[in-house]
Amino acid sequence: MPRGYFITLEGLDGSGKTTQINRLAAWLRTRGAVPVVTRQPGGTAIGDRIRGLVLDSRSTGLAPMAEMALMFADRAQAIAEVIEPALAAGKVVLCDRFTDSTEAYQGGGRELGSEVVLELHRLVCSNIRPDLTLLLLPSLEASLERARRRNQRTSEERGLDEDRFEREQDGFYRRVWEKYREIAAREPGRVVLIEGDLSIEEVYRQIIAAVAERMHEEAALKEG
Ligand code: TYD
Repeated sequence: MPRGYFITLEGLDGSGKTTQINRLAAWLRTRGAVPVVTRQPGGTAIGDRIRGLVLDSRSTGLAPMAEMALMFADRAQAIAEVIEPALAAGKVVLCDRFTDSTEAYQGGGRELGSEVVLELHRLVCSNIRPDLTLLLLPSLEASLERARRRNQRTSEERGLDEDRFEREQDGFYRRVWEKYREIAAREPGRVVLIEGDLSIEEVYRQIIAAVAERMHEEAALKEG
């Protein structure tokens, strides 16, 4: 059984990842694939409990190292329970956020640096590497604006408190945004950077073009 294909979506809060991941999953289904869609933090029963803990704004005083360790605990569970079995079964896995988020938010935003994140990824996640990462990076100003609006809606409509990150100051988001750009520059072979304030349709078009090209190349390699 050929190994599956691992795609991650990354970006700041409010970059439209969730809309795009759902559309990409639908597109893959029309092409006969049965994608496994998951997200981090969360995506498993244990991960959902970790998600509640790290995103709840009542979790005051959570030390940055503890926050990072929780993100990795969530990820280790998701890899064991969802991601690795699906890839072993030859499936396409679509994951909303992965270790690039930890590097951007905890490494950049919380200023823990990249090194500790990459080292933990090696130890805790067997260094598993996405085949393709789609990084949606609208301008910082637009991202902040959308995150604030979405956050208000989320709290009011669903009664959920997942605001801990949204309450961060602009400086935090600027560091996250810059770290994402650094990751894209460091790994151009893996990361496709979709930048600028594009329409949902245009982002979707670029995502489909990138996925079609990469998966086509991959299939050709496997056949050859
Ligand atoms: P979520 O509601 O899933 O945000 P979005 O829809 O924008 O993806 O919340 C996830 C939050 O957790 C988001 O603010 C980023 C943060 N996060 C980290 O700080 N580190 C991580 O490793 C991951 C996976 C997420």
